[in-house]
Order: sequence, then structure tokens, then C-alpha cells
Amino acid sequence: MNKDNKAKINRTGLSRRKFLGLAAAGSALSMANPSALLARSAPAPINPVLTDYVGRLCYNENPLGPSPMAIQAMSDDLDMSHRYPDWFAESLKGDLADIHDVSDNNVIAGCGATEILRLCAFAFAESNGNVVAPNPSYSQFPADAGFLGSDVYYSSLNDDHRIDLNDMADRVDNDTTAVCITNPNNPTATVLAADDIEAFVDDLPQGVVTIIDEAYHDFVDDPNYESAIDLVRRGKNVVVIRTFSKAYGLAGARIGYGIGRQSRINDMRAWQIFSTVSRPSLNASRAALDDIDHINDTVTLNNQAKQYCFGYFDLWGLSYIPSQTNFFMVATEMDNSDLAAALSSRDFYVRYGWGMDHHIRVSTGTMEEMEGFIDAMYDILNQVHAGGYTIPLVTALDGNYPNPFNSTTRISYSIAKSGQVKIQIFNIRGQLVKTVVDSYLLAGKHAFEWSGINQQGAPVASGSYFYRMTAGDFAQTRRMILVK
Ligand SMILES: Cc1ncc(COP(=O)(O)O)c(C=O)c1O
Repeated sequence: MNKDNKAKINRTGLSRRKFLGLAAAGSALSMANPSALLARSAPAPINPVLTDYVGRLCYNENPLGPSPMAIQAMSDDLDMSHRYPDWFAESLKGDLADIHDVSDNNVIAGCGATEILRLCAFAFAESNGNVVAPNPSYSQFPADAGFLGSDVYYSSLNDDHRIDLNDMADRVDNDTTAVCITNPNNPTATVLAADDIEAFVDDLPQGVVTIIDEAYHDFVDDPNYESAIDLVRRGKNVVVIRTFSKAYGLAGARIGYGIGRQSRINDMRAWQIFSTVSRPSLNASRAALDDIDHINDTVTLNNQAKQYCFGYFDLWGLSYIPSQTNFFMVATEMDNSDLAAALSSRDFYVRYGWGMDHHIRVSTGTMEEMEGFIDAMYDILNQVHAGGYTIPLVTALDGNYPNPFNSTTRISYSIAKSGQVKIQIFNIRGQLVKTVVDSYLLAGKHAFEWSGINQQGAPVASGSYFYRMTAGDFAQTRRMILVK
């Protein structure tokens, strides 16, 4: 935060001591000297940055953009766009095999980690079996496995927001076909130690494959962490997933890959359609692999951004989860949907949910974005504390909790303007299951509970369901998973 901003904050009239009273319960109050903090956090300008999408701190993207070498490689090949790319990303797979010191047969590349996770579900989930995954965590694999008819057993996180491997192991039974770990975890940004993962893998029944999603690998600096690709090299029943969407800054190009035991990669290939990685994306990713400086700049900026924000959180007494990724979670005494709405009214977009009522998840951005974010947080919390702040009402389908759920889930939504609102639940084939809301509602926050009962009053089967809200021109759809 520069001097001008600081002066602005001082004028708001709330003393720092009072402001500390906003701290989330349990956090330690820091007596850090603000000028030391300012000196420490002064950002070195890194690269010219994108001016578009400013404040989009909700998708864990790279604020520096793609590597210039990747952009060049895409441009150089544009006039070949009439030709199909390699059918199964062979050229990229060769490079990846070299970098990771595995054979080409251990590599599969696709349209983002998203495609690779889905291929894992096709290959490893069975309708008469189950998979085990933590919650909250990245939910795509268990959701896809559920789609395909597998049972899904969810384990919990520890008190320090790490995936609880003992709890995961306890949920594995004779019908378990796969377990999925996100390391570092999304949304909590915590990591598991390499030794703990290896011991966990070694204790699993032989046929159970471990999927380890390392989307945020490049940001980790915990010395106990190590990529699980070494487990693949040592022949273990593991598939590791990586993406070019995060540190490599190629989220829009859609490239991800898996490194796994050869037999497992073959199982996945059987389900893959051809040419899911486009020519420009293949070229971009191969060039990006060579641009070590871009990765270093990205990691440096990410660390600066986190250090800057954490410095203020310490000063203000807000509790946050130490982060090993390019996003972090911070807690305030505000309801997190209110805080997210207040931030979005100032053009900062963050995520919340996962059954964590007071945490928001914030992606790191440029230093300018982080300064704006910190200013916005300060202003909002300051005004709330002074009692003079009205939470801006937005129209939004806030989400449901718990999700996944066993019997009942609570769906929350808010309406900025009074009017007719409709919320309907659909199954994965798009068939209407139930109209749950169809009435004129007053502006404000609303919620209802759904217990998996359809329009005819009968219980519905386990699986994924979509719920869609329409209010005037507004329409939004979300997904929930019923696990019986
Ligand atoms: C843990 C994790 N895995 C996978 C993905 C999806 O990555 P991709 O953009 O490569 O499909 C994300 C995206 O946010 C993620 O957080």
C-alpha cells in the first residue's frame, strides 16, 4: 500500500486498536511496525502486466500472462491452423517425458488437467465400486466418478486444513478402485509431505490407483513436499496430474497432462478422443517449458503478493491459512458471501463456500491488484466495524452446503431487486427433477433446504444434480452431489 493509500485509510477515522477488534477469533495480534511492513512489501516491477480482467482474484490464474516465448510460438504456427495437430499430443509428450525422466508411455496430455481428471474417472471409477476423496478439495474427479455411477466416500481435513490421509485410508474398502489427493490442496492451499503420501500409497490395497493432482506444484516451497512423479518412476500405482493453466499462464490455451504407471496411462488412453490439444496450445506449452525466467518471475510475484497481504492480515489480526499456492484463504468476522459481495462491488472477485462460513479464497494478482484488494478489505471492514456499512445486495445463486450431501442440503441465494424468482433442479440428463422456488420474492437473502425429493414426492438416486436460478435477465446454474 503506498503512502497515498495509507493517508486515505487514516482519514477513515478508525483507530488501529479498534480495527484490531475486527480480528477473527483465535488469531494472534501482531504489533508489526507499519513502516517496516511497507518497506518489506514494496514490489519490484516484474513484467508489464495485463490491464484486462483486473481484480479477477477467483480463478488462480497467472497475472503475468503467458510466457512471451509461448505467445511467439503460437503466433508462428497460426498459418498452419488448417492442419490437425498430433493426434495424441505426441510432440509435447516427448518433451514432458524428457523433463520428468519417464518414458513417453508414462505420459498422457489433454485439454487441461480437467480432461485428464475426467479420463481418470472413465478409466478408474466403476459403477459397482467406490472412490475416496477429501472434502473440501478440488471436486472434479469425485464428481465425475459419481456421474459414472461410482459411490464416492469423502474424508475430512485436519484442524490445520490439510488432507487427513488417515481418514482417507479408513474409508478405503474392498470395493474402492481409486483415491484422489490434491496436493497442494485447493481451496485450503496446504500441502502433504512426500513421505506421508508414499506411506499412504504403500498401504493401499494393490488394485487401488492413487491420483495426485499437482496443479499448483510450481508454487510450493515447503521442504517436506516433493512431487509424486518419483513414485511413478519407482513403479507405484499412481497417476500425477499437472497443468499449464497456473504457473505457466496458459489457462486459456487448455493444456494439462498426467504422468503415471504405464498400464494406468493405457487405461486412460482408451477413453481419449483425438486431438484435444490444439496446434497453438501444443506449441505454446512446449515453448513455455523452456521459459524458466517466466516461471521464476511468476513464483517471485506470487510470493511478494502473499507476503504483502499476510503482512496486513497480521497487522489487523485476521487469521489466514499459510499458503503453498497462488491463492490463499483469509477469515474475517463477516459472513463470507457478504464480504465477497462487498468486494465485488469494488471490482475484486473472490471465491467462498466449501462450508467455511468466514473464509474467502483469494488468488494472487499483480501487486497493484493486491494493493487495491487490501484497500478494499480495509475500507469494508472499517465501515462494518463503524456500523455504517450496508452490504450491497447482489443477485446470485450463492451455492449449497453441504455439497456433496447425504440427505439434506441448504441452497442459498440473494436477490438485489424484488421480483419473480424460479429455481429448478435438473438431473444430469437435463430432465427436470423439481421446481423448488417459483414465486415473487422481496429483495434480500434467501435459502431453502432440499432433501433429495422429486416433484412427485419420491426420493431421487445418488448422483450429480444441477440447480438453476432465473430472476429477470439473471440466470445461474450450479452443481450439487447427492451421496447416499
Ligand atoms: C487442483 C486443480 N486441478 C485441476 C484444475 C483444472 O485445471 P485446468 O485448467 O488444467 O483444467 C484446477 C483449476 O483451478 C485446480 O485447482
